[in-house]
Order: sequence, then structure tokens, then C-alpha cells
Amino acid sequence: MSELIEKLKTIESDTEKRLLQASTLAEVQDCKVRILGKKGELTKLLAGMKDLSPAERPVVGKVVNEVKQRLNRSFERRSGEIEHQEREQRLREERLDITLPGRPRHRGALHPITRTFQKIETIFTGLGFQVAEGPEIEEDFYNFEALNIPKDHPARDMQDTFYIAEEVLLRTHTSPVQVRTMKKQSPPVRIIAPGKVYRCDADVSHTPMFHQVEGLLVDRGIRFGDLKGILEIFLHRMFGEDVGIRFRPSFFPFTEPSAEVDIACVICNGKGCRVCKHSGWLEILGAGMVDPEVFRSVGYDPEEVSGFAFGMGVERIAMLCYRIDDIRLFFENDLHFLSQF
Ligand code: DAH
Repeated sequence: MSELIEKLKTIESDTEKRLLQASTLAEVQDCKVRILGKKGELTKLLAGMKDLSPAERPVVGKVVNEVKQRLNRSFERRSGEIEHQEREQRLREERLDITLPGRPRHRGALHPITRTFQKIETIFTGLGFQVAEGPEIEEDFYNFEALNIPKDHPARDMQDTFYIAEEVLLRTHTSPVQVRTMKKQSPPVRIIAPGKVYRCDADVSHTPMFHQVEGLLVDRGIRFGDLKGILEIFLHRMFGEDVGIRFRPSFFPFTEPSAEVDIACVICNGKGCRVCKHSGWLEILGAGMVDPEVFRSVGYDPEEVSGFAFGMGVERIAMLCYRIDDIRLFFENDLHFLSQF
């Protein structure tokens, strides 16, 4: 028995010495395996305990446990010391310049089209309009038929679009939201409908997908003067209180009478330039009094109520506000362009 205990003590003191010489974590681990591993010295020694008498076993067992505990503590202590030394050394060697400026984080920003939408919406919600929405995949009935554009109407040529099925298409304007809203609710109605629209068109001033904001106000006794008043307030808030405005007679199948609304060219102040094609005016929206046929198709009585509608292209407005001369820039996802806003 005493021989066994002697051996234990030797293993312990040898291990302590070896640990002191270990200079890496791997060496400590190595040392641990050699003593406490499956084939380690201490493990082997324990196998010899079976030759001891039952009275001796607990005595030796106690010593073994104590030695094990002390050694485990030593392994841990030594590992900690080495880790600490290694960290210190890394910090000494690494040249850390804490005066270097940090790497800037690139902040995103709202797309110019989104910002223009928000500006338009703020003005109209301030005038008591609610924001309505409709689907981009639309039925022929809402996009054309109910807006007084029958199958053979020439106005369809100007709004060639992408068909999903015979009677299902990508909407060519936001006007179908007028019809959807009126079918859902009875008058009075006072909405704007912002959204994406689609047409088979592509050049410097047309993209196959673009954005519009529709407006509709229906109530008893609404007159053309109300339309003029609302649009003038809007255009003044959008382009400046002293911007010139004019209404020109025009035609839309869903309004009667109809008008196109121009503002004095914001580039040349009405003097005439390339952007306004030397006319001094920029066409900014279409508008008119809702045609009685449209009221009938949604079940409103044109003898009871009247109203006005208008529609504008958001890209066009954004191009004028930000002085952009190619509409395609909006959708090329070029950060050089987008980060200017
Ligand atoms: N929907 C027309 C277009 O896309 C624009 C428009 C004109 C809308 C007159 C209206 C309106 O509501 O009254 O060309």
C-alpha cells in the first residue's frame, strides 16, 4: 500500500514539474492525457488497486482522489496562465492604432419616387383625402369597360399593356381604383390612389412600369370650380406658391368635360427651353368631371351626385422636382444616382 502511495506522490510532483515547463496549451493538454488519460500513468496505477486488501482500498482511494483533484486544479491554473501570457504577447505584437477613423456605415435612403409619393400624399391627406389601393393585376372591366372605354375604343391603343389572360391585364393607369372604390362605398368619396401601372412603352420618357396617383372626389353639388381649387392648392404646395398654372380642354373617356393641367416650366420659368419644348409650359396631369356613364357603371345616380377625378404621373413630377432628364435612371439601381437623394 505505502508503495502505491509513494508512486502517487512521485507522479504528482513529476507532473507539477512538467507543467511548469509547459509553454503552450497543447503541451498542457498533452501532459494531462499522459497522466489522467485512458492509458495515463495515474489510470494505470489505479488498476493496481485491485490487489489491495478491502481495508486498504478506501485509504488509497482517498489519496488518489486528492491527488487527482490537485492535479486537475494545476492543469487549469497552468492553462489560464498560458492563455494570459499569449494574450499579452498578441497585444504587444499587434499594432493597434486606435486613432484610425472607423469604417463608415452606408445609410440607406428613400427612393426619389417614394419621396415624391410621400409629398403628394401629405398634401392630399391634408386636404381630407384618404389613400385607397387597388390590384396591379386588373380585370378588363375595371381598367377599361367601367371607365367608358369599350373594346373597340381608340383610347385602348394608347394604353397597350401586358395581358395575363383574355380579360386580365397589368393595369395601365390607377383609374380602375376609382371604380373599385365607388363600387365598395356610397358617396361622398374623397380618395387618392397611388400605385404602379404598366404599358408597352420604353424610351427616355417611358418605362414599361411607372407610377401614378389618381384622385377622386364625389359628393352632391361638386363643380368644375372645386376641381380647379383643389388642383391649384396641390400644385402650389408641390411646385411653389407662385408657379403658373393653366387648364387646357382635353378628352378622356371617363371625364366630361376633361382638362389637361400645365404648370409654367420650372426649368426656364416659362421663357421656353428644351424641357418644355420651348412652349414655357409642362403638362402635369389629366383631370375632369366624372362622366355620368362611369357613375352608372358603379351604381351611382348622376342626377344625385357629381364629382371630379384626376391622374398624374409620379416620375414626371419627380423628374421636374429633382431635375432629372432620363426616366430610366429611376429603375437602374445605380447607387451613384440614388445616393444623391
Ligand atoms: N388615367 C389617365 C391616364 O393614365 C389619367 C387621368 C386623366 C386620370 C383624367 C383621371 C382623369 O382621373 O380624370 O392617362
